[in-house]
Parts: sequence; structure tokens; C-alpha cells
Amino acid sequence: MIACYLKNASLNSMKDQIKWGILGTGRIARAFAEGLNNASNGYLYAVGSRSQNSAQLFAKEWNAPHFFDSYNELARCQEIDAVYIATPHTEHAQNAIKCIENRKAVLCEKPFAVNANQVEEMIKKAKEKNILLMEGMWSRFPPLMDQVRNLLANNEIGEIRTIHADFGFRPVERNLDGRLFNPNLAGGSLLDVGIYPVSLSFMLNGKPTSFLSDWTKGETGVDEQASIIFKYRNGSMALLHSSIQSDTAQEAFISGTKGTIRIHKQCWKPQTLTLTKWETGVSKKIEYPFVGNGFNYEAEHFGQLIIENKKESPIMPLGESLEIIKTLDEIRSKWGFSYPFE
Ligand SMILES: NC(=O)c1ccc[n+]([C@@H]2O[C@H](COP(=O)([O-])OP(=O)(O)OC[C@H]3O[C@@H](n4cnc5c(N)ncnc54)[C@H](OP(=O)(O)O)[C@@H]3O)[C@@H](O)[C@H]2O)c1
Repeated sequence: MIACYLKNASLNSMKDQIKWGILGTGRIARAFAEGLNNASNGYLYAVGSRSQNSAQLFAKEWNAPHFFDSYNELARCQEIDAVYIATPHTEHAQNAIKCIENRKAVLCEKPFAVNANQVEEMIKKAKEKNILLMEGMWSRFPPLMDQVRNLLANNEIGEIRTIHADFGFRPVERNLDGRLFNPNLAGGSLLDVGIYPVSLSFMLNGKPTSFLSDWTKGETGVDEQASIIFKYRNGSMALLHSSIQSDTAQEAFISGTKGTIRIHKQCWKPQTLTLTKWETGVSKKIEYPFVGNGFNYEAEHFGQLIIENKKESPIMPLGESLEIIKTLDEIRSKWGFSYPFE
């Protein structure tokens, strides 16, 4: 295994910044690297790939001073403060645990892992080593979501009665071996995109007391569509949908006893909301445009947790990530759908 070194120019000026490592060089790794360009408290220090060529190309493109041709070497690099895990769902748990064992703070892409057993192992390791760990549910961190949490805390729309949220899209190509459709890579709509509306409803309303759901099984055996109804103790409900067969509205509508909040398309990349109050009948559309591509908000939040020596995020707590994946396990179990490796 080799650790390659490209340059060390200007690193001194960055010495108070979080040094990030990115594990994996796929689509979302690139988006996160772009996000780091706009993060105020950190920068890309190194990338790790299974292939030296990919690592080198990625480092060059995103100006990372170091690259490694193995994930283990990245995890062992003494200089790195935080690792962003950007591999397929099936790899998250083992990659995260490897980094935690090497005392790296870990921001791991959604879904945190494939099932609750894996997530429990990750959390156990983080607690044992006293290391910061967080699920990368990036939608929770843009300014619009701060505003949604404030509006609810200030009782602007009253008690939530109904949530509608969906995330469906039509992939450019149906690559049945790729991670979206391949059961061996934990393919399917629920874990890939359904987790956004599910996570949103957990953030807004907590854990449901019961649920109903149904799914469309695709040609590889994974769920290509999923519809879920959550019911809560106070009688409120959430209607959630995901699809990797067709585009959906990709909106979220939160309806309370005093008004509504509509998070416009794309609600998983939230930048516009409309607040309507029943009492006045007034609707106000408010824009919260991203600075950068939006991944910078998640990276900055995580960097701040490291600076404050916190081991858990108050916005994406470990217990909530665990409850979310347990719920996804239960949903799949009701369908009779498990992955070949489970
Ligand atoms: N937050 C978001 O908006 C968002 C959006 C898309 C995806 N994601 C999440 O990010 C994760 C990665 O998704 P992606 O779309 O970036 O996937 P991708 O383009 O397929 O990239 C995944 C990368 O993981 C590495 N890898 C390790 N083991 C692999 C294996 N067995 N098969 C394929 N690749 C493997 C590869 O990097 P090397 O070859 O360099 O090792 C590959 O480039 C998923 O868990 C997904 O849910 C999040």
C-alpha cells in the first residue's frame, strides 16, 4: 500500500481547519468535495480509493494534497480529523468502524447502514472509542431547515396533523448491476430515497406508533416503489412515498392546526418554502438559496462538533438514526423483503 503526496503549499494557513478525508470517489464523494470548497471550517486533505488511479484523479480534480490507494491507509492517516464515507450502503458499517478504530470522526452517508444490526455496531464502536459519529442526512442542515425547526418551535403552524413527503426519480439508465437496483448492494427506493421523507417525518414528529406500507417489487427483487403511512400517538399522520421508477413531486407539505409549511421541489435539497397561516389567510413564499452546493452546511455542522469536542449531533442524533433504520427494517420485514446477505 502506498500513500502518495502531491503538495504541501498553503497548508500552514489552514492549520486551524478540520482536515477531511473522503472515502470513495463516486458521485456523492465529488458533491461533498465541492461542498468542502465552501465550508468555512475545513478542507479536503486526502482521498482514499480502492484504485490508485481513481484516488490520484480525484485528488487532482479537487485539490487534495494526499491520496491513498486503500481505505485502510486513509483511515490510518494520522493527520486526518474527519472521514466522510461515500461508498455504497453495504460498505458503510465496515468503513465507518475501520475509521472509528483509527480515531477518526466519521460522517457516514445515508442510509447510516443497511440495517439496525449494522448501525448498532457502528454506534457501539463510536461510544467505546469516544468518537464523533453522525449519519450524513444533509437535508437537515441547510438554512431553510433551521427555519422550519424554528417555525415549529414557535408554534407558527400549531400542532402537526399531516405530513406529505415524497422522493421519486427516474434514473437516466436502469443499470441493474449498479447500487440502485442490485440487491447485493442493498438496492431499492426505500434505503436510497425513501429515507429522506422518513427522516423528515422523524425530525418533525418523532417515531410513529404504527405504520402501513406497500411496495412494488422490481425485476431484480428490490423495492422500486414504496408507500408508507405513519400514525402517531396524537392521531397525526405522515404519508410518504419513494420511487426509482418515476419522477414524483419531491415536495414536503406539513399541515398543522394553525397553518402549513410547503417545502418546494426538491424538498431533499431545500431552498424554498411557503408559510400559510389560517388566521390571516396570508401565504408567504421565502427563498433560502444555498451558498455552494449545500453539502457545505453539513460539513460545517460536523466540523463545529469536532471543534466543540462533541461526540454526537443534536440535529441528527445517533438514537434517531437507529430508530429510523429500525423502522426501515420493520417496513421491509412486513413486505417479506430482505437482502441476500442478511
Ligand atoms: N446525500 C445525498 O444526496 C446522496 C446522493 C447520492 C448518494 N448518496 C449516498 O452515497 C453513497 C454512495 O452513493 P454514490 O451515488 O456516490 O455511489 P457511486 O457513484 O457508485 O460511488 C460509490 C463509490 O464507493 C466505492 N465503492 C466501494 N465499494 C464499492 C462497491 N462494492 N461497488 C461500487 N463502489 C464501491 C467506489 O469508490 P472507489 O472505487 O474510489 O473505491 C465508488 O466510486 C450511497 O450510500 C448513497 O445512499 C447520498
